[in-house]
Amino acid sequence: MCGIVGYVGNKPVVDILVDGLEQLEYRGYDSSGIAVKCSDKIEIYKAEGKLCNLREELSSHAYEISKATVGIGHIRWATHGAPSVVNAHPHTCNCGKLVLVHNGIIENYKELKAELEAKGCKFRSQTDTETVAHLIANIYGEVKDLTKAVHLAAKKIEGAYALCIMHNDEPDKIVATKRNAPLVIGLGEGEYYIASDVPAFIKHTKQAIYLGDNQVATITKSSIKIENENMLEISPKVELLPWEPVALSKMGYKHFMLKEIHEQPDIIRNILVGKIKTSDNNIVLDEVNLTKDTLKNLNRIQIIACGTSLHAAMVGKYIIEDFCKIPVDIEASSEYIYRNTVTDKHTLVIGVSQSGETADTLTAIKQSKARGSHILIITNRPDSAMAREADSLLSVNAGIEVSVAATKSYIAQLTSFYLLALYMAEIKGTMTSDNLKKIKSEMLLLPQKIEQILAHKEEIQKCARKYANTRDFIYIARGINYPTALEGALKLKEISYINATGYPAGELKHGPIAMLDETMPVLSILMNGSVYEKLLSNSEEAKARNARMIALTNSTDEKLNDLFDSIIRVPDVMELLSPLIAMIPLQLIAYYIAEFLGKDVDQPRNLAKSVTVE
Ligand code: M6R
Repeated sequence: MCGIVGYVGNKPVVDILVDGLEQLEYRGYDSSGIAVKCSDKIEIYKAEGKLCNLREELSSHAYEISKATVGIGHIRWATHGAPSVVNAHPHTCNCGKLVLVHNGIIENYKELKAELEAKGCKFRSQTDTETVAHLIANIYGEVKDLTKAVHLAAKKIEGAYALCIMHNDEPDKIVATKRNAPLVIGLGEGEYYIASDVPAFIKHTKQAIYLGDNQVATITKSSIKIENENMLEISPKVELLPWEPVALSKMGYKHFMLKEIHEQPDIIRNILVGKIKTSDNNIVLDEVNLTKDTLKNLNRIQIIACGTSLHAAMVGKYIIEDFCKIPVDIEASSEYIYRNTVTDKHTLVIGVSQSGETADTLTAIKQSKARGSHILIITNRPDSAMAREADSLLSVNAGIEVSVAATKSYIAQLTSFYLLALYMAEIKGTMTSDNLKKIKSEMLLLPQKIEQILAHKEEIQKCARKYANTRDFIYIARGINYPTALEGALKLKEISYINATGYPAGELKHGPIAMLDETMPVLSILMNGSVYEKLLSNSEEAKARNARMIALTNSTDEKLNDLFDSIIRVPDVMELLSPLIAMIPLQLIAYYIAEFLGKDVDQPRNLAKSVTVE
């Protein structure tokens, strides 16, 4: 998490840095800051909270900083130390000549800090980052060469980092380095941009170098030199970025989240174009390099992901097992990486990630790759670190998702899982052609059905308001919609801070039922199909404990009116595809409750869109 930017060139740097940080706000918004080279020293400006506070702070120094053309900036998601001005980056050393910004976590900062304090360094903040500022400054005092000092400091640091560093004795220069955190350098005419992610500079240049782990880049406005960890110069690969600058606009919607929910029908249409031509044609999935032989030799699939992507993975498991008859395990990446996971060349490992940068998933992927598994990545960012590890890359093409709460990327991941499962089933011959045809033709109808739900969103808004003033919320479902219950609850938690939980309905009676009384809303995801009757019974059990009952259903059964206090009806859909329909009202419920409660829907507290720390 956190986002870093840097610029060396001839243009006024402040706007470049702050605009860049605005594009990285998805990585955190606890504080922000910049350091710019002014006439004879480096000046630092910081503010707690969102970037607008930094803009305000800078407005009262507009004159002093207007001529600066070199600088670095940071947007923070707090790990060590509270979100405050003193903990905001850039950080500096005792003499104030060296400044740096950091994304990542320095795992051995306590040991380093003790050593540096013993040498007389005075620490001001509670961050791990400040240790690195003192460390490099200390080494610089001996070697008098910033690049060399960074190399030597890197050898002492454990953990993950991307760093941009400036020193007043080597003006008009930025030194950058990274290990297990993203850093990309944009190449302009007589200027260079540095950032955690491409959107920070894509409107200025499309030529870029992805810095490799342990490499150190020394950048001035007229030159860039990249050295490997042995301090030997290397020739970097310059890539042409596939990105167009995107005008991130809410298009008249009150929040990005609502806009992104409305984009979902078109996203599904775009994903399906060319992949399902008609229900009679085979699925076209050229990106997936799984041959008949590879599939025949697979004995299992592991899907690794976090958060919303993990819920998509759970639906993925259900359909891959159903369609392809291959056993699938799913696991939270953060758990997967700290045990002796069994994977080999007969295991297909699927990593799912909107951002493609989530540190836990990236580490898990690297581990399984080293064991010889085929790595298939499902991501919304084909330019990400995870995509670069992929043997097969399934890009979900949901477009930039600004709202921290994932909506359209989830629906895009699910759609991609359906395509993948159908594709593998066709190769393996595990489904009848009638079944394949039925699912494909129903998939083509999904966008229209979602549009029907969105056309009646006011009814969902009314229902949401009825339950907005609750402290807790329970979602129940069974079978393929159990992940829908988890994802519905996660959406509500994330943006309204209501304590929402998803349960497999059959588990209610094994404990959670004790929590039910007349104050507890229980939302039952009651979709027609194999578990409908069972879930109806579980809903009766909850009703018998006086819970406030809500149904989300495609059933037209009038008897539901007696059991449920509120009913949200959705268009009919086959059970196997129902997660794609059932999720839409749950996204809207979460949205409308948070909006009604006046929460910061797009940037909920304590969260960041891209979680690059383990
Ligand atoms: O970028 P990823 O999909 O790997 O991110 C994983 C989670 O951090 C993410 O899904 C998170 O749970 C979202 N805030 C969900 O809305």
